[in-house]
Amino acid sequence: MSRSVDKPPRKLNDQDFSLRPMLEEDLPKVMGIERLAYPYPWSERIFRDCLAAHYSCWVAEKKDEMLGHAVLTVAAGESHILNVCVSPAAQGIGLGRLFVAHLLEVAAARRANTVFLEVRPSNKVAYQLYVSMGFNEVGHRKNYYPAESGKEDALIMALVL
Ligand SMILES: CC(C)(COP(=O)(O)OP(=O)(O)OC[C@H]1O[C@@H](n2cnc3c(N)ncnc32)[C@H](O)[C@@H]1OP(=O)(O)O)[C@@H](O)C(=O)NCCC(=O)NCCS
Repeated sequence: MSRSVDKPPRKLNDQDFSLRPMLEEDLPKVMGIERLAYPYPWSERIFRDCLAAHYSCWVAEKKDEMLGHAVLTVAAGESHILNVCVSPAAQGIGLGRLFVAHLLEVAAARRANTVFLEVRPSNKVAYQLYVSMGFNEVGHRKNYYPAESGKEDALIMALVL
């Protein structure tokens, strides 16, 4: 898949950002990015529930600027990526790939055997990212996501660690 040629490619350096666990006080900024990046964003309540349940919740930031967030669960040898979200202004420079790589490391460290996720078939960027990181389609859920014309199916993808 090709990117726009209007701008020269930008790539992240390690010094550009840091990943750290999400805190409750991050939620206003997290919600700002979530609402910009998704047509059907999670509610703040969902993030609060994830934090309260001690899911593995992460943010990426550059100095004080929030760049994105990601949420993972691990239980009984299975891990689920629940959210990977990069601020539109920071998309396309490698942060999504780094987030997923980080979540896979967390899942492996917590002894997960398999990592699952769901993605909209229409979300070509995310789908391409997951395929390039080794995820395979293992099923689908009918009418899973809200969509403009009713509902959209979810593709279920899995990666064996
Ligand atoms: C999906 C998302 C997390 C990807 O993050 P990102 O930081 O933009 O992606 P990266 O720069 O790390 O790129 C990773 C891969 O995605 C694909 N990709 C990224 N931007 C793309 C674009 N504009 N066109 C096509 N493919 C693209 C490529 O396969 C790319 O691999 P490459 O770097 O080898 O070319 C980000 O676009 C996003 O937050 N989208 C909105 C929220 C969302 O849909 N989350 C996923 C829910 S399942």
